[in-house]
Amino acid sequence: MNTIPEKLTVRELDLFYGDFQALKKINFSLAGKEVSALIGPSGCGKSTFIRVLNRMNDLIPSCRIAGNIFLDGEDIYGGIDVTELRSRVGMVFQKPNPFAMSIFDNIAYGPRMQGIKDKRKLAGLVEQSLVKAALWNEVKDRLKKSALSLSGGQQQRLCIARSIAMAPEIILMDEPTSALDPIATGKIEELIGELKQDYSIIIVTHAMHQAARVSDKTAFFLLGEIIEWGDTKEVFTNPKDRRTEDYISGRFG
Ligand SMILES: Nc1ncnc2c1ncn2[C@@H]1O[C@H](COP(=O)(O)OP(=O)(O)O)[C@@H](O)[C@H]1O
Ligand SMILES: [Mg+2]
Repeated sequence: MNTIPEKLTVRELDLFYGDFQALKKINFSLAGKEVSALIGPSGCGKSTFIRVLNRMNDLIPSCRIAGNIFLDGEDIYGGIDVTELRSRVGMVFQKPNPFAMSIFDNIAYGPRMQGIKDKRKLAGLVEQSLVKAALWNEVKDRLKKSALSLSGGQQQRLCIARSIAMAPEIILMDEPTSALDPIATGKIEELIGELKQDYSIIIVTHAMHQAARVSDKTAFFLLGEIIEWGDTKEVFTNPKDRRTEDYISGRFG
C-alpha cells in the first residue's frame, strides 16, 4: 500500500491566490532526517511553499491548490486531522512569536491542549524540549518568568522548543534567524545541526552561506518554480542552471 518511501513527497503542486499562481508544478521530497534549505529571491514562493506543508494556507480564503502532498504516504489534503498534522509538521516563524505567558507555559501549552495534565510529565516534557533546543541552561532558574523577558535569540530557541514539545517529525523554519544578531544566529545554526539527528527540517533562508552551512539539500526557487534542487554542495559548487549560478553568485536577488 505504501508506495511512497519518503517522509514527505510533493507532486506537481500548483498554488493560486485568486488568479495569481504563486507555485508552479513543484516536485520536492524529504527522504528522512535531513535539512533542506529553500533559497531564492523575495516573493518567489518560499513561505507559500512551507505554509502549504502544514496547511497554514487553509486560513487564506483565496488560496487553492492542485497536486499532492504526502506525509508518510498519506495525502495531507485528504482526510487527515489538521491539528494532528500541525503537531507532526511544526513551524517556526521569521519573527520569534512566544505567547505572552511564562517560559514554562509556552512549552507546556501544546501538550496541555493534547490532554496531558500530569504535572510531573509536563515538567519532564518542558525540560526535555528546552534541553533539545539548547536553552535549558539559560532558563532553568526562571521558568516562571515571562517568555517576553528573553532576548530575541532565546525567544526563537523557545519557539523551537515549543515545536519540539509536540514531538514533530518535520520542523519548518521560515527565515528563523533573519531577526537575530550574528551570535544568536550562530546558536540557531548550531542547533539545527543537532536537531537533524531527530527531525527532518526545511529551512527558508536568503542567506546563502547559511544554506551552505546547515543544509544537506538545497532547492532554488524562482517565480514560483523550483529551478534547481539537489545536494547542497552540488548546487553551490556546480549549479546546473545559469539562473541558479547567477543567484548564488549574487548577481540578482
Ligand atoms: N495571502 C496572500 N495573498 C495573495 N498573494 C500572496 C499572499 N501571500 C503571498 N502572496 C504572493 O505570493 C508570492 C510569493 O510570496 P511568498 O511565498 O511570501 O514569497 P517568499 O517567501 O519567497 O518571499 C508573492 O508574489 C506574494 O505577493
Ligand atoms: Mg517569505
